[in-house]
Amino acid sequence: MRHTYVAGTATTTFGRHPDKTLIDLAVEAGEMAIADSGLERSEIDAVYFGNFLGRGIDGQGVIASLLALRLGLAGVATTNVEGACGSAGIALRHGVLSVAAGAATATLCIGAEHMTRPGTQAITKLLTEAGEMATDGAAGLTFPGFFGLVANAHAARYGSTRDDLAAVVMQNRACAVANPNAMFRETVSADQIASGKLIADPLRLLDCSPISDGAAAVVVTDWAHATSSRNGAVRVLACEQTSGPVGIRHMETLTSFPATVTAAQRAYKSAGLGPRDIDVVELHDCFSITELVNVADLGFFAHGEAHTAIAEGLTTNGSPGVVVNPSGGLLGRGHPVGATGLAQVHEVVGQLRGTAANQLPAAHVGMAHNLGGAGATATVTILGAA
Ligand SMILES: CC(C)(COP(=O)(O)OP(=O)(O)OC[C@H]1O[C@@H](n2cnc3c(N)ncnc32)[C@H](O)[C@@H]1OP(=O)(O)O)[C@@H](O)C(=O)NCCC(=O)NCCS
Repeated sequence: MRHTYVAGTATTTFGRHPDKTLIDLAVEAGEMAIADSGLERSEIDAVYFGNFLGRGIDGQGVIASLLALRLGLAGVATTNVEGACGSAGIALRHGVLSVAAGAATATLCIGAEHMTRPGTQAITKLLTEAGEMATDGAAGLTFPGFFGLVANAHAARYGSTRDDLAAVVMQNRACAVANPNAMFRETVSADQIASGKLIADPLRLLDCSPISDGAAAVVVTDWAHATSSRNGAVRVLACEQTSGPVGIRHMETLTSFPATVTAAQRAYKSAGLGPRDIDVVELHDCFSITELVNVADLGFFAHGEAHTAIAEGLTTNGSPGVVVNPSGGLLGRGHPVGATGLAQVHEVVGQLRGTAANQLPAAHVGMAHNLGGAGATATVTILGAA
């Protein structure tokens, strides 16, 4: 297999885009990523498009082919990828594998979602399809509901508190202030979090990622072509994808997602690295509780210690260990579900290039972790300076 590189990345602003369509946003991100890569369009052989809700909302299939036409890439191989909130991470993995196998010189991976138009009730129903519809969906379990159960299980098993959840929210919202593409640009206080409306006990409004519109894109290529990158290429050290239980009846525990654990183990093995080598991670904080679970599943802290470590500020920029979600994460940047995995990569690449809004003093190795559904899919990508 050939070594692969990220030559270009881009993200639109995340938030509400009433005047743009899903395809408009995806094309915007794709154009910017191609420009950032410095590649000619004729050097791009394939488009992988990550998206979850587009078909349900707009009734449109084969979106990757529509994107190729709009992007001046007519005739290239086009593939639509769906893995719920993990769709973009999976699109990236396909783009990486195609280049690694020598089947493509360069691939354009795009993730996008336009979620704000149908309203919260309709979106909540569509998001439920990322769980097991015959059981959990039929019982009326929503995604906030599922992660409320996770928060209760975590509190019972490890003693995490509402204050620990609030610490995650305050940290991620504080990071988003400097991120020009983030949906929320204001800090929030403990009082604001505590007085937010109850969504799914114990999760309140600000514990939840928002319903958002946005797109992100990444160009992957080999070393010979990566040198054209306008802002510097970054090496893909590992890009792993796994699956896990879809419904609660198949889960051994609610306080860990096996798909993440396995994807991380495989990624560390392929990169020849361990958790202590990671300077920065963009991880899937779809709810505050999910960050507590993920930092442990990715190997950065023991399960019973993660909530204390975060509350003590051990994952903030300037701390000696791994820095978590300097972009603001899903809680601050926003979570247009099909775009998130590639927006995470955009931030990690920015950190390695030295151009991120909340730039770490020294970032040599970074990780992106994208989760789909209630742990039904996971991708873990490790990137390093070229
Ligand atoms: C939490 C949630 C139910 C709130 O939706 P809602 O009750 O309809 O909220 P509204 O749209 O009425 O918004 C009310 C206000 O709260 C804000 N808001 C909405 N969701 C928010 C969120 N998640 N975080 C912070 N603020 C939020 C809105 O911007 C709005 O502010 P404004 O009055 O200043 O304009 C919704 O954001 C949600 O479902 N989030 C989770 C999405 C999800 O499950 N994603 C997949 C993860 S696996």
